[in-house]
Amino acid sequence: MLNTRIVQIVKSLNLPKGEYAIFGSALLEVYGLRDSGDIDFIVTKKLFDELKKTEDWEEFRYSNGDLALKYRGANKDIDVAFYDCQAMPGCDEKGIRAMIKRAENIGGAMFVSLDDILTWKKNFVREKDLVDVKLIEKFMKVQQQKTEILEKVEQKVKEMNDADAAHDHWHVVRVKNLAQKICVAENSDEFRVSMIALLHDVFDWKLNPVEDEEKALRELLDDLGVSKFIGEADLKSIAYDASHISFKGGANRGAKLSLEGQIAQDADRLDGIGAMGMARTFAYGGAKNREIYNPDDGVNPDISPEEYQNLDRKSHSIQHFYEKLLKLKDLMNTKTGREMAQHRHEFMEKFLDEFYAEWEGER
Ligand SMILES: [Fe+2]
Repeated sequence: MLNTRIVQIVKSLNLPKGEYAIFGSALLEVYGLRDSGDIDFIVTKKLFDELKKTEDWEEFRYSNGDLALKYRGANKDIDVAFYDCQAMPGCDEKGIRAMIKRAENIGGAMFVSLDDILTWKKNFVREKDLVDVKLIEKFMKVQQQKTEILEKVEQKVKEMNDADAAHDHWHVVRVKNLAQKICVAENSDEFRVSMIALLHDVFDWKLNPVEDEEKALRELLDDLGVSKFIGEADLKSIAYDASHISFKGGANRGAKLSLEGQIAQDADRLDGIGAMGMARTFAYGGAKNREIYNPDDGVNPDISPEEYQNLDRKSHSIQHFYEKLLKLKDLMNTKTGREMAQHRHEFMEKFLDEFYAEWEGER
């Protein structure tokens, strides 16, 4: 989860991307390592010249002659902008241009990368920088461990998810990517969101049923050595969320998911609707030898969770739109999920309209 105070302030300035990056300790605050004081910017010479013409910025010189701009606008958290500062290591014009090029986009604001900040702080060697160096190195080590765990889990899941084309590894990859996208918009914990997304179908009730899905996931994570890193409470919570996001005809409706679980559930549901959801529905129907449509059977949205989970019942693929796909738009958890679902839902409605017209030979 990111601390977005600085992101919001910087976005309000509407500075052009590729022309600036936030410098100093701001990124440490964004990552929750410590509070940052003022916000400093490195900028291109072009942006420097543009800003100094505005009322909000005023040119001044440091005692060594380096030029900079002091912020005079309403926001007291913003301090200076500079494009060439000989007094600071690596901050000549060329170095600054290179750091702007390598800057990280966080929530729409550009930050000097953590690698560059680490190098700069190591070179500047003020006492407070050395404290920051330790903080950054510890943080990077944890990030590296998280990356390694996610890679290990993804590899294991890939070996285990070998069901039909609707529930293959690509479904898991799409859900993970969608979940990460929603996670950024909703400012949640990306590691937990990714873990839940990766694990959500491993012991799915219709693909790889086990007596206790949550327990089986905890054991799987134990086997992978994950508990050593994330702790028992987090491991349990991830296993609970991952085992309770499936639709199951409404059977999981009472589950108390964490925000990360809700995000992974939205991502899974988004992959169940729209063009992707329809492609998966017909792929699954084909794998189960189902008819595409049967007008004699009609469609029925009101089936019980028990009926929904009866894999032997006779059904056709268009029925699945009514018993699940068309319901998902109203079951999304997050604002981002709801917005994305609206578009996908409308696309399905258009498809059904076309489908029935073609069935009747009208088009
Ligand atoms: Fe899924």
